[in-house]
Amino acid sequence: MKTIGIIGGGQLGRMMTKAAKKLGFNVTILDPGENSPAGQVADKQIIGSWNDPVAIREIVTQCDVTTYDLEHINTDALIELAEQGHTIHPDPRVLKIIQDKYTQKSRLQECGVDIPAFVKQDEGDTQAFYDFGFPLVQKTRTGGYDGKGVLVIKSEEDLEKALPGPCMLEKMVDLKMELGVMVSRSLTGEIVTYPVTEMTFDDRSNILDLCIVPGRISEELTEKAQKLAHDTMEAFGGVGIFGVELFVDKNGDLSVNEVAPRPHNSGHYTIEACVTSQYEQHIRAVAGLPLGSSLQARPSVMYNLMGEPEEEGIPFVAGLKEILELPEVSLHMYGKKETRPFRKMGHITVTADTVDKAVEVTEKVKSIVKIIAES
Ligand SMILES: Nc1ncnc2c1ncn2[C@@H]1O[C@H](COP(=O)(O)OP(=O)(O)OP(=O)(O)O)[C@@H](O)[C@H]1O
Ligand SMILES: [Mg+2]
Repeated sequence: MKTIGIIGGGQLGRMMTKAAKKLGFNVTILDPGENSPAGQVADKQIIGSWNDPVAIREIVTQCDVTTYDLEHINTDALIELAEQGHTIHPDPRVLKIIQDKYTQKSRLQECGVDIPAFVKQDEGDTQAFYDFGFPLVQKTRTGGYDGKGVLVIKSEEDLEKALPGPCMLEKMVDLKMELGVMVSRSLTGEIVTYPVTEMTFDDRSNILDLCIVPGRISEELTEKAQKLAHDTMEAFGGVGIFGVELFVDKNGDLSVNEVAPRPHNSGHYTIEACVTSQYEQHIRAVAGLPLGSSLQARPSVMYNLMGEPEEEGIPFVAGLKEILELPEVSLHMYGKKETRPFRKMGHITVTADTVDKAVEVTEKVKSIVKIIAES
């Protein structure tokens, strides 16, 4: 095994590429954007769409194993190639189930994994809202990301904003907090679970803001969350790392929100804080190697560096020197050529002796660093 192909050249692909290079592999990227974040560090980039069957065939046939850094890709093309004997991980048939939030939740339900109550909503079926009952959350079945394609409908008055297309309706959870757990599965079916992340969201954009690890929760809840992530991985199978997003309601009960069959924003902290990063773990798994230890060496907080709301153009990190003087700070920039409002441009991981100290330093970092456009 020599060459790993990655469909998608964003920041997740970039960090996967670095991990693959560390282990001695060659990497080829498929991405439509020239000089993509991952393409900059890989051996080769094929310029093409993640949905183009010709480009997908090109990368898959050139590589010993192919994986991906996003889920909105042409699964039918990948399934055909897998059936012809090409190695693609995680299994594109699993990806196809996960791509559609309704089939994803149905699989979890069949396997007895706790999830909020849900139903399918056919396009334009208004009666479905009344039959299900308010308050509810309407979700587009495919193509949603970063909170796009998710709408809270509290009552009949909100129906005018309803999302178009085939959707699912989900019971609105009275949220106390949201958690994330990374979990990996090897070719031989071994499963390794990571520590539990406490996730907080940016109120303006609904994008993940901070990930605090270990989450400030009880031992009991930690174990339950890790078990849910483990059971979720078993429910889908597949080889690689998965990100499992969890809800904790006001009674302290847990349920699965969604699954990403790839490295996840809530697992960035593993680069500095764990023996094996989520990216290395993914590469190990898809390459058929033994999984590494998920042991966390230091408490940490990850902060997403998003483009400031009014800024557009060549990115500039204001406050760079000041934050790099802090010994707890580790900076990752993704090499994106243009900043846009709330675009994920990089992240910072703060590691410290205690979670409280890591949170304190992160608050300071947040007040200093800004991604603006070069003037
Ligand atoms: N059933 C629910 N009850 C309460 N809040 C919910 C529910 N479903 C989603 N949310 C809120 O909306 C956010 C986004 O939902 P979800 O994770 O399904 O969307 P996404 O756009 O696919 O995800 P991402 O932001 O991870 O790309 C959740 O993190 C949560 O804060
Ligand atoms: Mg989500």
